[in-house]
Amino acid sequence: MPIERVGVVGCGLMGSGIAQVAAQAGCQVTVREIASQFVEKGFESIEKSLGRLVEKGTLGASDRDQIRGRLRGTTKLEDLEDSDIVIEAILEQLNAKKELYVALDRICPPATIFASNTSSISITEMAVATGRPDRFVGLHFFNPVPVMKLVEVIRTIATDAAVFEEVVAFAARLGKAPVRTTDRTGFIVNRLLVPYLLDAVRVLEDGLASTEDIDNSMKLGCGHPMGPLTLLDFVGLDTTYSIARIMFDEFKESRFAPPPLLKRMVLAGWNGRKAGRGFYDYADATKPKPMRLS
Ligand code: 3HC
Repeated sequence: MPIERVGVVGCGLMGSGIAQVAAQAGCQVTVREIASQFVEKGFESIEKSLGRLVEKGTLGASDRDQIRGRLRGTTKLEDLEDSDIVIEAILEQLNAKKELYVALDRICPPATIFASNTSSISITEMAVATGRPDRFVGLHFFNPVPVMKLVEVIRTIATDAAVFEEVVAFAARLGKAPVRTTDRTGFIVNRLLVPYLLDAVRVLEDGLASTEDIDNSMKLGCGHPMGPLTLLDFVGLDTTYSIARIMFDEFKESRFAPPPLLKRMVLAGWNGRKAGRGFYDYADATKPKPMRLS
């Protein structure tokens, strides 16, 4: 049975993007948030993103209306009961995720596949909280979801091989390029990306170069779309700090240890673009200015 009815839990940055691409692919999507204002905020961001596509001419206005028609917001978890797959994109807290999966396990029929968009929490640990670890995978999207082509599909030792392939095919149907991987904290991208981002903070902390010169080096020397410190501000310093800590805990390798400057910035609430400041000050978002950090 192809996946047609998609449930998404969490309508933040990632959840709203996932709901959007699933609806764009023709699926019926129900997105659940804990309060209606979060549903509204998520739908606003979907509207903005679809608006960009219409403006560029990549999407017709009638197609946009059909996509809108396939999207439904709710605050009731029970509304996800007829989903073929439920994709969870809530906050990165193991206990909150486990609690959610226990509730979903009661609500959804045994055939429903559960997928987590976590970037670092063990898929196995969440899967065993349910009675269906064989129908549980990781499905890791990248920010901004409508733009980034990659999706990591993660299997655990308990994932059924046919379910795994079904989810790989679903990711391809969303217009994404799926890669297959296994349940090791950070999967492929963050295993490579996080040490690089942390090293960029160390280079700044060691006084090797300025914020702008570090960013320009990787943009102009290696063709990256964003320098590492700009990317840290984009992803969120708190998010990266939390991923790094989980990875350090798992592998006990110093390359995953968050540098003191990153910790200080998170303590100060300078979490990047969403907080208005991080490595740059976004008072004028069109012209971010490097912050003084020593
Ligand atoms: N929805 C729809 N379209 C969007 C969009 C959105 N939310 N955001 C950007 N776009 C489109 C724009 O309309 C534009 O389309 P066009 O080329 O057809 O005109 C295109 O994307 C480029 O956008 P902009 O011109 O506004 O800006 P940039 O050229 O600076 O690109 C960027 C923005 C796509 C974010 C680019 O800078 C980039 O690729 N940055 C790197 C992002 C990255 O590395 N993401 C992964 C983070 S790691 C992660 O998510 C994992 C987690 O676990 C930490």
